[in-house]
Amino acid sequence: MEFSCKLGPTEQTKTDCLVIGVFKNNRLSAAGKTLDDALGGQLKAAFRHQDFSGEVGSTQLLYELPGCSAKRILFLGLGDQKKFVPRQLGLACSAAFSQLERSGAKDCTVALPLLGEDDPIYRLVREATSAAEAATYRFDQCKSEKQPPKRPLKQIEFSLQTRAQQNAAKRAAEHGQAIGKGTRLAKDLANLPGNICTPTYLAQRARAIARGKRKLKTTVLDEKEIEKLGMGALLSVSRGSRQPARLIVLEYRGGKPTAKPIALVGKGLTFDAGGISIKPAASMDEMKYDMCGGASVLGTIAACVELALPINLIGIVPSSENLPDGDANKPGDIVTSMSGQTIEILNTDAEGRLILCDALTYAERFKPAAVIDIATLTGACIVALGDQASGLMANDDALAEGLLKAGGECGDRTWRLPLWPEYQSQLDSNFADMANIGGRGAGTITAACFLSRYTKAYKWAHLDIAGTAWVSGKNKGATGRPVPLLTEFLLRHCKATR
Ligand code: BES
Ligand code: MN
Ligand code: ZN
Repeated sequence: MEFSCKLGPTEQTKTDCLVIGVFKNNRLSAAGKTLDDALGGQLKAAFRHQDFSGEVGSTQLLYELPGCSAKRILFLGLGDQKKFVPRQLGLACSAAFSQLERSGAKDCTVALPLLGEDDPIYRLVREATSAAEAATYRFDQCKSEKQPPKRPLKQIEFSLQTRAQQNAAKRAAEHGQAIGKGTRLAKDLANLPGNICTPTYLAQRARAIARGKRKLKTTVLDEKEIEKLGMGALLSVSRGSRQPARLIVLEYRGGKPTAKPIALVGKGLTFDAGGISIKPAASMDEMKYDMCGGASVLGTIAACVELALPINLIGIVPSSENLPDGDANKPGDIVTSMSGQTIEILNTDAEGRLILCDALTYAERFKPAAVIDIATLTGACIVALGDQASGLMANDDALAEGLLKAGGECGDRTWRLPLWPEYQSQLDSNFADMANIGGRGAGTITAACFLSRYTKAYKWAHLDIAGTAWVSGKNKGATGRPVPLLTEFLLRHCKATR
Protein backbone atom coordinates (compact mmCIF):
# COMPACT_ATOMS: atom_id res chain seq x y z
CA MET A 1 0.00 0.00 0.00
CA GLU A 2 1.21 3.50 -0.79
CA PHE A 3 0.33 6.38 1.51
CA SER A 4 0.60 10.10 0.95
CA CYS A 5 -0.38 13.19 2.91
CA LYS A 6 -1.75 16.23 1.06
CA LEU A 7 -2.77 19.76 1.93
CA GLY A 8 -5.79 21.39 0.36
CA PRO A 9 -9.56 21.47 -0.06
CA THR A 10 -11.11 18.02 -0.37
CA GLU A 11 -13.90 18.92 -2.82
CA GLN A 12 -11.31 19.44 -5.56
CA THR A 13 -9.48 16.18 -4.94
CA LYS A 14 -9.41 13.92 -7.97
CA THR A 15 -9.79 10.46 -6.50
CA ASP A 16 -11.67 7.20 -7.00
CA CYS A 17 -13.20 7.65 -3.58
CA LEU A 18 -13.37 10.36 -0.97
CA VAL A 19 -13.79 8.89 2.51
CA ILE A 20 -15.71 11.18 4.86
CA GLY A 21 -16.07 10.37 8.55
CA VAL A 22 -19.57 10.81 9.98
CA PHE A 23 -20.41 10.54 13.66
CA LYS A 24 -23.66 9.14 14.98
CA ASN A 25 -26.81 11.18 14.33
CA ASN A 26 -25.36 12.30 11.00
CA ARG A 27 -22.84 14.66 12.51
CA LEU A 28 -20.31 15.46 9.84
CA SER A 29 -16.67 15.92 10.78
CA ALA A 30 -15.18 19.37 10.07
CA ALA A 31 -13.83 18.29 6.69
CA GLY A 32 -17.23 16.80 5.88
CA LYS A 33 -19.00 20.07 6.68
CA THR A 34 -16.67 22.06 4.46
CA LEU A 35 -17.27 19.59 1.66
CA ASP A 36 -21.01 19.65 2.18
CA ASP A 37 -21.00 23.46 1.93
CA ALA A 38 -18.98 23.32 -1.27
CA LEU A 39 -21.43 20.79 -2.69
CA GLY A 40 -24.51 22.79 -1.80
CA GLY A 41 -25.72 20.50 0.96
CA GLN A 42 -25.79 17.27 -1.04
CA LEU A 43 -24.26 15.24 1.78
CA LYS A 44 -26.84 16.30 4.34
CA ALA A 45 -29.53 15.64 1.75
CA ALA A 46 -28.33 12.05 1.45
CA PHE A 47 -28.85 11.52 5.18
CA ARG A 48 -32.57 12.07 4.73
CA HIS A 49 -32.95 8.57 3.31
CA GLN A 50 -31.67 7.18 6.62
CA ASP A 51 -29.70 4.38 4.97
CA PHE A 52 -26.71 5.26 7.07
CA SER A 53 -26.44 4.69 10.81
CA GLY A 54 -23.13 6.24 11.81
CA GLU A 55 -22.24 3.21 13.94
CA VAL A 56 -18.51 2.48 13.99
CA GLY A 57 -17.70 0.68 10.75
CA SER A 58 -21.02 1.32 8.98
CA THR A 59 -20.54 2.67 5.45
CA GLN A 60 -22.55 4.24 2.64
CA LEU A 61 -21.37 4.83 -0.92
CA LEU A 62 -22.54 7.78 -3.06
CA TYR A 63 -21.63 8.11 -6.72
CA GLU A 64 -20.77 11.07 -8.93
CA LEU A 65 -22.14 13.96 -6.90
CA PRO A 66 -22.43 17.07 -9.10
CA GLY A 67 -19.59 19.52 -8.38
CA CYS A 68 -17.38 16.96 -6.69
CA SER A 69 -14.13 15.82 -8.34
CA ALA A 70 -14.25 12.43 -6.61
CA LYS A 71 -15.95 9.54 -8.40
CA ARG A 72 -17.34 8.20 -5.17
CA ILE A 73 -17.94 9.43 -1.67
CA LEU A 74 -17.88 6.93 1.15
CA PHE A 75 -19.57 7.88 4.41
CA LEU A 76 -17.69 6.19 7.19
CA GLY A 77 -19.44 5.70 10.52
CA LEU A 78 -17.31 6.84 13.46
CA GLY A 79 -19.78 6.20 16.29
CA ASP A 80 -20.48 8.58 19.12
CA GLN A 81 -18.60 11.87 18.71
CA LYS A 82 -18.32 12.41 22.47
CA LYS A 83 -16.63 9.06 22.95
CA PHE A 84 -14.38 9.30 19.91
CA VAL A 85 -10.82 7.95 20.30
CA PRO A 86 -8.33 7.16 17.51
CA ARG A 87 -9.03 3.43 17.90
CA GLN A 88 -12.55 4.06 16.55
CA LEU A 89 -11.09 5.41 13.33
CA GLY A 90 -9.01 2.23 13.01
CA LEU A 91 -12.07 0.01 13.41
CA ALA A 92 -14.04 2.14 10.97
CA CYS A 93 -11.22 2.17 8.43
CA SER A 94 -10.97 -1.63 8.50
CA ALA A 95 -14.54 -1.75 7.24
CA ALA A 96 -13.98 1.04 4.71
CA PHE A 97 -10.83 -0.40 3.20
CA SER A 98 -12.21 -3.94 2.92
CA GLN A 99 -15.20 -2.50 1.08
CA LEU A 100 -13.02 -0.40 -1.22
CA GLU A 101 -10.75 -3.39 -1.90
CA ARG A 102 -13.84 -5.21 -3.19
CA SER A 103 -15.17 -2.17 -5.08
CA GLY A 104 -13.53 -0.71 -8.16
CA ALA A 105 -11.64 2.05 -6.36
CA LYS A 106 -7.88 1.88 -6.84
CA ASP A 107 -7.13 4.92 -4.75
CA CYS A 108 -8.90 6.94 -2.12
CA THR A 109 -8.54 10.11 -0.12
CA VAL A 110 -9.37 10.07 3.56
CA ALA A 111 -10.50 13.30 5.17
CA LEU A 112 -9.47 12.76 8.78
CA PRO A 113 -12.07 13.51 11.46
CA LEU A 114 -10.20 16.31 13.19
CA LEU A 115 -12.03 17.67 16.18
CA GLY A 116 -9.76 20.34 17.53
CA GLU A 117 -6.36 21.97 17.61
CA ASP A 118 -4.45 19.35 19.57
CA ASP A 119 -5.84 16.37 17.73
CA PRO A 120 -3.64 13.30 17.81
CA ILE A 121 -3.05 13.33 14.05
CA TYR A 122 -0.16 10.97 14.44
CA ARG A 123 -2.35 8.35 16.15
CA LEU A 124 -5.23 8.79 13.70
CA VAL A 125 -3.00 8.19 10.71
CA ARG A 126 -1.30 5.25 12.40
CA GLU A 127 -4.72 3.69 13.01
CA ALA A 128 -5.76 4.22 9.41
CA THR A 129 -2.53 2.85 7.95
CA SER A 130 -2.58 -0.33 10.00
CA ALA A 131 -6.25 -0.83 9.14
CA ALA A 132 -5.37 -0.51 5.46
CA GLU A 133 -2.50 -2.97 5.71
CA ALA A 134 -4.69 -5.52 7.51
CA ALA A 135 -7.73 -5.12 5.25
CA THR A 136 -5.70 -5.73 2.10
CA TYR A 137 -3.67 -8.69 3.40
CA ARG A 138 -4.08 -11.96 1.52
CA PHE A 139 -2.22 -15.24 1.86
CA ASP A 140 -2.48 -17.21 -1.36
CA GLN A 141 1.07 -18.49 -1.79
CA CYS A 142 -0.10 -22.08 -1.60
CA LYS A 143 -3.16 -21.78 -3.87
CA SER A 144 -2.63 -23.00 -7.43
CA GLU A 145 -5.03 -20.36 -8.72
CA LYS A 146 -4.75 -16.96 -7.14
CA GLN A 147 -7.85 -14.82 -7.17
CA PRO A 148 -6.73 -11.29 -6.42
CA PRO A 149 -9.37 -8.53 -6.41
CA LYS A 150 -9.88 -7.17 -9.92
CA ARG A 151 -8.98 -3.61 -9.03
CA PRO A 152 -7.23 -3.68 -5.67
CA LEU A 153 -6.87 -0.56 -3.56
CA LYS A 154 -3.32 0.66 -4.10
CA GLN A 155 -3.04 4.23 -2.86
CA ILE A 156 -4.42 6.01 0.15
CA GLU A 157 -4.10 9.75 0.55
CA PHE A 158 -4.75 11.65 3.75
CA SER A 159 -5.98 15.16 3.33
CA LEU A 160 -4.80 17.67 5.93
CA GLN A 161 -5.39 21.33 6.64
CA THR A 162 -2.11 22.63 8.07
CA ARG A 163 1.58 22.08 7.49
CA ALA A 164 2.06 20.85 11.07
CA GLN A 165 -0.72 18.32 10.60
CA GLN A 166 0.83 17.23 7.35
CA ASN A 167 4.22 16.66 8.98
CA ALA A 168 2.75 14.57 11.80
CA ALA A 169 0.70 12.59 9.29
CA LYS A 170 3.73 11.95 7.09
CA ARG A 171 5.69 10.59 10.01
CA ALA A 172 2.77 8.41 11.06
CA ALA A 173 2.27 7.05 7.55
CA GLU A 174 5.95 6.20 7.31
CA HIS A 175 5.88 4.40 10.65
CA GLY A 176 2.58 2.73 9.83
CA GLN A 177 3.85 1.47 6.52
CA ALA A 178 7.02 -0.01 8.02
CA ILE A 179 5.00 -1.69 10.76
CA GLY A 180 2.58 -2.91 8.12
CA LYS A 181 5.40 -4.49 6.15
CA GLY A 182 6.88 -6.11 9.25
CA THR A 183 3.48 -7.44 10.25
CA ARG A 184 2.94 -8.82 6.76
CA LEU A 185 6.27 -10.62 6.91
CA ALA A 186 5.38 -12.17 10.27
CA LYS A 187 1.95 -13.24 8.98
CA ASP A 188 3.36 -14.75 5.81
CA LEU A 189 5.95 -16.81 7.69
CA ALA A 190 3.40 -17.94 10.25
CA ASN A 191 0.74 -18.92 7.71
CA LEU A 192 3.17 -21.16 5.83
CA PRO A 193 2.68 -24.82 6.73
CA GLY A 194 5.18 -26.77 8.81
CA ASN A 195 6.43 -28.78 5.85
CA ILE A 196 7.58 -25.59 4.12
CA CYS A 197 8.45 -23.36 7.06
CA THR A 198 11.06 -25.53 8.78
CA PRO A 199 13.89 -24.26 11.01
CA THR A 200 16.18 -24.27 7.97
CA TYR A 201 13.63 -22.27 5.95
CA LEU A 202 13.16 -19.75 8.75
CA ALA A 203 16.93 -19.29 8.90
CA GLN A 204 17.08 -18.71 5.13
CA ARG A 205 14.39 -16.07 5.39
CA ALA A 206 16.26 -14.39 8.24
CA ARG A 207 19.36 -14.28 6.05
CA ALA A 208 17.33 -12.79 3.21
CA ILE A 209 16.14 -9.96 5.45
CA ALA A 210 19.72 -8.91 6.11
CA ARG A 211 20.85 -9.18 2.49
CA GLY A 212 22.08 -5.85 1.20
CA LYS A 213 21.59 -4.12 4.57
CA ARG A 214 24.83 -2.69 5.87
CA LYS A 215 23.73 -2.39 9.49
CA LEU A 216 22.02 -5.76 9.80
CA LYS A 217 23.82 -9.08 10.11
CA THR A 218 22.31 -12.56 10.34
CA THR A 219 24.21 -15.50 11.76
CA VAL A 220 22.76 -19.01 11.74
CA LEU A 221 24.14 -21.65 14.08
CA ASP A 222 23.68 -25.30 13.09
CA GLU A 223 23.34 -28.23 15.48
CA LYS A 224 27.09 -28.76 15.78
CA GLU A 225 27.60 -25.18 16.87
CA ILE A 226 24.55 -25.34 19.13
CA GLU A 227 26.03 -28.42 20.77
CA LYS A 228 29.37 -26.70 21.26
CA LEU A 229 27.57 -23.97 23.18
CA GLY A 230 26.12 -26.64 25.47
CA MET A 231 22.49 -25.99 24.60
CA GLY A 232 21.29 -29.35 25.84
CA ALA A 233 17.70 -28.21 26.36
CA LEU A 234 17.20 -26.90 22.82
CA LEU A 235 18.91 -29.95 21.31
CA SER A 236 16.81 -32.37 23.35
CA VAL A 237 13.66 -31.03 21.68
CA SER A 238 15.15 -31.12 18.22
CA ARG A 239 16.36 -34.73 18.65
CA GLY A 240 12.77 -35.90 18.18
CA SER A 241 12.61 -34.46 14.68
CA ARG A 242 14.32 -35.09 11.36
CA GLN A 243 14.59 -31.37 10.74
CA PRO A 244 17.78 -30.04 12.29
CA ALA A 245 17.50 -27.18 14.79
CA ARG A 246 18.80 -23.71 14.07
CA LEU A 247 19.74 -20.80 16.27
CA ILE A 248 19.08 -17.66 14.26
CA VAL A 249 20.81 -14.47 15.41
CA LEU A 250 20.20 -11.03 13.90
CA GLU A 251 22.23 -8.00 14.89
CA TYR A 252 21.07 -4.54 13.90
CA ARG A 253 23.55 -1.79 14.71
CA GLY A 254 21.66 1.42 14.11
CA GLY A 255 22.68 3.14 17.35
CA LYS A 256 25.93 4.36 18.86
CA PRO A 257 28.52 1.57 19.01
CA THR A 258 28.60 1.89 22.80
CA ALA A 259 24.81 1.81 23.29
CA LYS A 260 23.59 -1.39 24.89
CA PRO A 261 21.23 -3.31 22.65
CA ILE A 262 17.71 -4.48 23.27
CA ALA A 263 17.38 -8.20 22.60
CA LEU A 264 14.24 -9.86 21.25
CA VAL A 265 14.08 -13.61 21.73
CA GLY A 266 11.31 -15.42 19.81
CA LYS A 267 10.08 -18.99 20.04
CA GLY A 268 10.56 -20.48 16.59
CA LEU A 269 8.91 -23.87 16.97
CA THR A 270 7.88 -24.61 13.39
CA PHE A 271 5.53 -27.43 14.39
CA ASP A 272 4.49 -28.61 17.84
CA ALA A 273 2.90 -32.06 17.93
CA GLY A 274 3.71 -32.26 21.63
CA GLY A 275 6.41 -34.91 21.28
CA ILE A 276 5.88 -38.16 23.22
CA SER A 277 3.31 -36.31 25.37
CA ILE A 278 1.46 -36.00 22.09
CA LYS A 279 -1.36 -33.51 21.59
CA PRO A 280 -4.93 -34.50 20.66
CA ALA A 281 -5.69 -34.39 16.92
CA ALA A 282 -8.27 -31.59 16.96
CA SER A 283 -6.80 -28.31 15.70
CA MET A 284 -3.29 -29.71 15.77
CA ASP A 285 -2.68 -28.03 12.41
CA GLU A 286 -2.68 -24.72 14.28
CA MET A 287 0.57 -25.74 15.92
CA LYS A 288 2.31 -24.57 12.75
CA TYR A 289 1.79 -21.21 14.43
CA ASP A 290 4.14 -22.15 17.26
CA MET A 291 6.85 -20.10 15.54
CA CYS A 292 4.87 -16.84 15.72
CA GLY A 293 7.18 -15.44 18.41
CA GLY A 294 10.15 -15.97 16.12
CA ALA A 295 8.28 -14.51 13.15
CA SER A 296 7.44 -11.41 15.20
CA VAL A 297 11.13 -10.93 15.97
CA LEU A 298 11.96 -11.01 12.25
CA GLY A 299 9.04 -8.69 11.41
CA THR A 300 9.96 -6.20 14.13
CA ILE A 301 13.60 -6.08 13.12
CA ALA A 302 12.59 -5.63 9.47
CA ALA A 303 10.40 -2.67 10.50
CA CYS A 304 13.17 -1.08 12.60
CA VAL A 305 15.70 -1.47 9.80
CA GLU A 306 13.25 0.06 7.32
CA LEU A 307 12.83 3.06 9.62
CA ALA A 308 16.59 3.18 10.29
CA LEU A 309 15.89 3.55 14.01
CA PRO A 310 18.89 4.83 15.95
CA ILE A 311 19.09 1.80 18.23
CA ASN A 312 21.00 -1.42 18.56
CA LEU A 313 18.79 -4.45 18.37
CA ILE A 314 19.48 -8.16 18.66
CA GLY A 315 17.09 -10.86 17.49
CA ILE A 316 17.51 -14.44 18.66
CA VAL A 317 15.25 -17.20 17.35
CA PRO A 318 15.78 -20.76 18.55
CA SER A 319 14.06 -22.91 15.97
CA SER A 320 13.05 -26.57 16.07
CA GLU A 321 10.16 -28.99 15.57
CA ASN A 322 8.60 -30.95 18.45
CA LEU A 323 7.62 -34.42 17.25
CA PRO A 324 7.39 -37.93 18.68
CA ASP A 325 10.24 -40.19 17.60
CA GLY A 326 12.37 -43.03 18.93
CA ASP A 327 15.01 -40.49 19.83
CA ALA A 328 12.62 -37.86 21.23
CA ASN A 329 12.54 -36.63 24.83
CA LYS A 330 10.66 -39.00 27.14
CA PRO A 331 8.79 -37.94 30.28
CA GLY A 332 11.29 -38.18 33.11
CA ASP A 333 14.33 -37.45 30.96
CA ILE A 334 16.80 -35.03 32.50
CA VAL A 335 18.75 -32.59 30.33
CA THR A 336 21.39 -29.97 31.06
CA SER A 337 20.82 -26.46 29.76
CA MET A 338 23.55 -24.08 28.56
CA SER A 339 23.36 -22.33 31.94
CA GLY A 340 24.38 -25.58 33.66
CA GLN A 341 21.00 -25.96 35.36
CA THR A 342 19.39 -29.38 34.92
CA ILE A 343 15.77 -29.92 33.90
CA GLU A 344 13.49 -32.90 34.47
CA ILE A 345 11.17 -33.08 31.44
CA LEU A 346 7.89 -34.24 32.93
CA ASN A 347 5.88 -33.26 29.86
CA THR A 348 7.52 -33.15 26.44
CA ASP A 349 4.80 -30.76 25.27
CA ALA A 350 6.25 -28.03 27.48
CA GLU A 351 9.03 -27.66 24.91
CA GLY A 352 8.87 -23.91 24.30
CA ARG A 353 10.58 -23.11 27.57
CA LEU A 354 13.26 -25.69 26.76
CA ILE A 355 14.31 -24.05 23.54
CA LEU A 356 13.90 -20.54 24.98
CA CYS A 357 15.97 -21.07 28.12
CA ASP A 358 19.13 -21.74 26.13
CA ALA A 359 18.46 -18.78 23.83
CA LEU A 360 17.96 -16.57 26.91
CA THR A 361 21.30 -17.69 28.32
CA TYR A 362 22.88 -16.98 24.93
CA ALA A 363 21.45 -13.44 25.05
CA GLU A 364 23.74 -12.61 28.00
CA ARG A 365 26.75 -12.26 25.70
CA PHE A 366 25.26 -9.13 24.13
CA LYS A 367 25.14 -7.35 27.51
CA PRO A 368 21.62 -6.21 26.68
CA ALA A 369 19.88 -3.17 28.20
CA ALA A 370 16.75 -5.35 28.23
CA VAL A 371 15.55 -8.66 26.85
CA ILE A 372 12.00 -9.31 25.67
CA ASP A 373 11.01 -12.85 24.80
CA ILE A 374 7.93 -13.59 22.72
CA ALA A 375 6.35 -17.03 22.68
CA THR A 376 3.17 -18.99 22.01
CA LEU A 377 3.96 -20.62 25.30
CA THR A 378 0.86 -21.79 27.13
CA GLY A 379 -2.72 -22.75 26.37
CA ALA A 380 -3.43 -21.43 29.87
CA CYS A 381 -2.81 -17.89 28.61
CA ILE A 382 -5.74 -18.26 26.20
CA VAL A 383 -7.91 -19.29 29.14
CA ALA A 384 -6.75 -16.28 31.16
CA LEU A 385 -6.80 -13.48 28.56
CA GLY A 386 -8.45 -14.81 25.41
CA ASP A 387 -7.49 -13.19 22.14
CA GLN A 388 -7.41 -9.57 23.29
CA ALA A 389 -4.24 -9.21 25.32
CA SER A 390 -0.90 -10.96 25.29
CA GLY A 391 0.29 -12.11 28.71
CA LEU A 392 3.08 -9.94 30.12
CA MET A 393 5.44 -10.98 32.90
CA ALA A 394 8.64 -9.22 33.85
CA ASN A 395 11.43 -8.93 36.40
CA ASP A 396 11.52 -5.15 35.93
CA ASP A 397 8.59 -2.78 36.53
CA ALA A 398 9.73 0.02 34.23
CA LEU A 399 10.15 -2.39 31.33
CA ALA A 400 6.71 -3.88 31.99
CA GLU A 401 5.16 -0.39 32.17
CA GLY A 402 6.78 0.54 28.88
CA LEU A 403 5.30 -2.49 27.14
CA LEU A 404 1.86 -1.95 28.70
CA LYS A 405 1.86 1.68 27.54
CA ALA A 406 3.09 0.91 24.04
CA GLY A 407 0.45 -1.78 23.64
CA GLY A 408 -2.32 0.52 24.83
CA GLU A 409 -1.26 3.21 22.36
CA CYS A 410 -1.23 1.02 19.28
CA GLY A 411 -4.05 -1.37 20.21
CA ASP A 412 -1.76 -4.42 20.36
CA ARG A 413 -2.38 -4.85 24.05
CA THR A 414 -0.75 -6.77 26.89
CA TRP A 415 -1.86 -7.47 30.44
CA ARG A 416 0.51 -8.12 33.29
CA LEU A 417 0.47 -11.23 35.43
CA PRO A 418 2.48 -11.55 38.66
CA LEU A 419 5.77 -13.42 39.00
CA TRP A 420 5.77 -13.70 42.78
CA PRO A 421 8.54 -15.93 44.13
CA GLU A 422 5.94 -18.10 45.87
CA TYR A 423 5.03 -19.59 42.48
CA GLN A 424 8.56 -20.90 41.95
CA SER A 425 8.17 -23.98 44.14
CA GLN A 426 5.65 -25.39 41.68
CA LEU A 427 8.68 -26.24 39.55
CA ASP A 428 10.42 -28.31 42.25
CA SER A 429 11.80 -31.63 41.04
CA ASN A 430 12.98 -34.60 43.10
CA PHE A 431 15.64 -35.44 40.57
CA ALA A 432 16.87 -32.30 38.80
CA ASP A 433 17.25 -28.56 39.49
CA MET A 434 13.74 -27.96 38.20
CA ALA A 435 10.84 -29.62 36.41
CA ASN A 436 9.62 -28.26 33.09
CA ILE A 437 5.98 -28.07 34.23
CA GLY A 438 4.36 -26.57 37.31
CA GLY A 439 1.15 -28.49 37.85
CA ARG A 440 -2.47 -27.45 37.35
CA GLY A 441 -2.66 -23.87 38.58
CA ALA A 442 -1.24 -20.71 36.97
CA GLY A 443 0.26 -22.42 33.92
CA THR A 444 1.18 -19.16 32.23
CA ILE A 445 2.94 -17.88 35.32
CA THR A 446 4.85 -21.07 36.09
CA ALA A 447 6.08 -21.15 32.48
CA ALA A 448 7.42 -17.64 33.03
CA CYS A 449 8.87 -18.73 36.39
CA PHE A 450 10.81 -21.36 34.51
CA LEU A 451 12.20 -18.73 32.11
CA SER A 452 12.96 -16.36 34.99
CA ARG A 453 15.65 -18.79 36.16
CA TYR A 454 17.58 -18.00 32.99
CA THR A 455 17.13 -14.23 32.92
CA LYS A 456 18.72 -13.10 36.17
CA ALA A 457 21.58 -11.28 34.42
CA TYR A 458 19.41 -8.59 32.81
CA LYS A 459 16.10 -6.73 32.75
CA TRP A 460 13.59 -9.05 31.17
CA ALA A 461 10.00 -9.21 30.02
CA HIS A 462 8.11 -12.20 28.68
CA LEU A 463 5.16 -11.99 26.27
CA ASP A 464 2.90 -15.04 26.05
CA ILE A 465 1.18 -14.63 22.69
CA ALA A 466 -0.67 -17.98 22.63
CA GLY A 467 -4.03 -16.19 22.40
CA THR A 468 -3.10 -13.28 20.16
CA ALA A 469 -0.76 -14.61 17.45
CA TRP A 470 -3.45 -16.10 15.24
CA VAL A 471 -7.20 -16.47 14.94
CA SER A 472 -8.94 -19.84 14.60
CA GLY A 473 -12.14 -20.77 12.81
CA LYS A 474 -13.40 -19.67 9.43
CA ASN A 475 -10.98 -16.76 9.20
CA LYS A 476 -8.02 -18.80 10.42
CA GLY A 477 -4.83 -16.86 9.96
CA ALA A 478 -1.89 -15.20 11.65
CA THR A 479 -2.37 -11.73 13.12
CA GLY A 480 1.25 -10.60 12.97
CA ARG A 481 1.00 -9.63 16.63
CA PRO A 482 3.00 -8.43 18.49
CA VAL A 483 4.99 -6.72 15.71
CA PRO A 484 2.97 -3.49 16.22
CA LEU A 485 3.52 -3.60 19.99
CA LEU A 486 7.25 -4.26 19.77
CA THR A 487 7.86 -1.66 17.08
CA GLU A 488 5.80 0.89 19.01
CA PHE A 489 7.85 0.11 22.11
CA LEU A 490 11.10 0.58 20.20
CA LEU A 491 9.86 3.78 18.53
CA ARG A 492 9.04 5.16 21.95
CA HIS A 493 12.40 3.95 23.15
CA CYS A 494 13.97 6.35 20.67
CA LYS A 495 11.29 8.97 21.34
CA ALA A 496 10.05 9.00 17.78
CA THR A 497 6.36 9.16 18.61
CA ARG A 498 4.63 12.22 19.94
N1 BES B 1 2.72 -24.30 21.91
C1 BES B 1 2.06 -24.79 23.06
C2 BES B 1 1.13 -23.77 23.71
C3 BES B 1 -0.13 -23.48 22.96
C4 BES B 1 -1.17 -24.39 22.95
C5 BES B 1 -0.30 -22.27 22.33
C6 BES B 1 -2.34 -24.10 22.28
C7 BES B 1 -1.48 -21.98 21.67
C8 BES B 1 -2.50 -22.90 21.64
C9 BES B 1 3.07 -25.21 24.11
O1 BES B 1 4.24 -25.76 23.61
C10 BES B 1 2.41 -26.24 24.97
O2 BES B 1 2.12 -27.28 24.45
N2 BES B 1 2.20 -25.91 26.22
C11 BES B 1 1.56 -26.79 27.12
C12 BES B 1 2.27 -26.70 28.44
C13 BES B 1 1.83 -27.73 29.44
C14 BES B 1 2.25 -29.11 28.98
C15 BES B 1 2.44 -27.41 30.77
C16 BES B 1 0.09 -26.36 27.27
O3 BES B 1 -0.17 -25.16 27.31
O4 BES B 1 -0.77 -27.25 27.30
MN1 MN C 1 4.05 -27.85 23.29
ZN1 ZN D 1 4.78 -25.24 21.75
